[in-house]
Amino acid sequence: MLQNNFWKKLNPAAFALAPMEDVTDTVFREVVMSTAAFDKLHLLFTEFTSVDGICHPLGRNAVLHRFKVNQSETTLLQKNQIKLIAQIWGNDPEKFFKAAEFIARECSFDGIDINMGCPVGKVIKQNTCSALIDQPNLALEIIDATIKGSGLPVSVKTRTGTHSHQTERWIGQLLGSDVSAVTLHARTQKMLSNYPADWDQVSIAVKVKQRMNADIKILGNGDVNSYNTGLKLIENSGADGVMIGRGIFTNPWFFSEDDSQRDVNEKISLLEKHIRLFQETWNSSRNFSILKRFFKIYIHGFEGAAALRASLMDSRSHEEALDAISRFSK
Ligand SMILES: Cc1cc2nc3c(=O)[nH]c(=O)nc-3n(C[C@H](O)[C@H](O)[C@H](O)COP(=O)(O)O)c2cc1C
Repeated sequence: MLQNNFWKKLNPAAFALAPMEDVTDTVFREVVMSTAAFDKLHLLFTEFTSVDGICHPLGRNAVLHRFKVNQSETTLLQKNQIKLIAQIWGNDPEKFFKAAEFIARECSFDGIDINMGCPVGKVIKQNTCSALIDQPNLALEIIDATIKGSGLPVSVKTRTGTHSHQTERWIGQLLGSDVSAVTLHARTQKMLSNYPADWDQVSIAVKVKQRMNADIKILGNGDVNSYNTGLKLIENSGADGVMIGRGIFTNPWFFSEDDSQRDVNEKISLLEKHIRLFQETWNSSRNFSILKRFFKIYIHGFEGAAALRASLMDSRSHEEALDAISRFSK
């Protein structure tokens, strides 16, 4: 039994921001937290990080930026009592053990999440992520190695199956392990994100948990596009919480007291904050073009938005982007 397992004391209707590659770095997590009301956001995840990279003496430097946590983020995490979880991926249990040891020793995450859901061709070819759904013995070995290596609470984020829903079989196998939580993205590997999430699968997972009498949290994920939708899905499925992915792209105020759309000034000042924090944090070590995917999150739904977005997309540096904003604001 792990001490201080925050999953055991989770809010009864927990909300998480999903791990998203090139999106949920320390900067964006801080921006989202800065808009969140107390007790409306409970869990944050890093971008997925390869255990091969973490274990490789030279490769490590190429992946460790994914685990960067600014002091200003730590302050907000503590103030809002939000847990931050490192997500890792790979397929060699020994590397999971070593990576988990490293995380417990060198970082200060509250838990570790194992990616068993990514459907992208290049990772499946390496027999990792969602490919583990069809290799349950290996998946369980990986969970075990990660718990033993870290002594931290370990969770899994996964899908309902590879080619068809296999929720009963797969969730049953995961819930037989010492995992503390499972996030179920209610789509198969083959569905990518091209079809609506099937929340009946989350209800099935909850029934499996009840039947097994497992003290393991289940979060549902897929198409949660507003806070109230999240609350309804929790109620209807019986899940312990929901995870929000692309919903944050349509509204960065998703977790605020009032999640309605904001006016032009608020949108622009949040984007400015994002650009400045990105520059302070990464300087030139992360490509400026990563920021471009965020522009449309803030710059939409007001007069002149399209023109401002176009000049932001043409910008080649933080300074040029901030300059485009100040020209618009004059
Ligand atoms: C840009 C992007 C990057 C993602 N990166 C990750 C990742 O690193 N790890 C992971 O487990 N899932 C990743 N996902 C999947 C999301 O966490 C989530 O499961 C998926 O978007 C479905 O939720 P949604 O319908 O609310 O968007 C990513 C999704 C997007 C859109």
